[in-house]
Amino acid sequence: MKNIISWDYRLAIDGGSIDSDHKKIIEVINRFLSKVGKFESAAEIMDILEELHSQANDHFRREEELQRLIKYPDRDIHFTEHNRLSTKLEKLMEEVRPTGGAYVNIMGHKVADFIHEWLFTHILKSDMKMRSFVKSAATKTPLNSNDDINENDAGDNNTTTNKQPVMEKKIVVG
Ligand SMILES: [Fe+2]
Ligand SMILES: [Fe+2]
Repeated sequence: MKNIISWDYRLAIDGGSIDSDHKKIIEVINRFLSKVGKFESAAEIMDILEELHSQANDHFRREEELQRLIKYPDRDIHFTEHNRLSTKLEKLMEEVRPTGGAYVNIMGHKVADFIHEWLFTHILKSDMKMRSFVKSAATKTPLNSNDDINENDAGDNNTTTNKQPVMEKKIVVG
């Protein structure tokens, strides 16, 4: 089955750890979606969801740290979205865990709906809104948690048209 999405430079945000996280998350999402309707046990679904859960938690922490460093203006909304995604994933895992028989693939479809939502409304929309702010901050010297950026310098709101695959200077996160 063809991947639903492949990571390429148009999805680049920081040329570093955030991009690397997104590549891994997209790989897990593709792996999950390629098996929808063909899962043979709840354990098979859980293996992939455990991996996604672990990667997502680490990634959300790194992304929130980056947003704090660059004083991203929508960071509170973004943080709330991360919490909502984590909570929903954990609830779905609790639902999947005891499932058997025909319900395994019913749950597989339910999880797939959630994963589509995550991909299309969070990664491809909310995360991509950060790009111009990260690019703007990256024109300064590499940042660490002791650096401070003036709020007015942290982005031009001129989003989504930048096609630079890699930032010239990287922001160091976690
Ligand atoms: Fe995010
Ligand atoms: Fe993200």
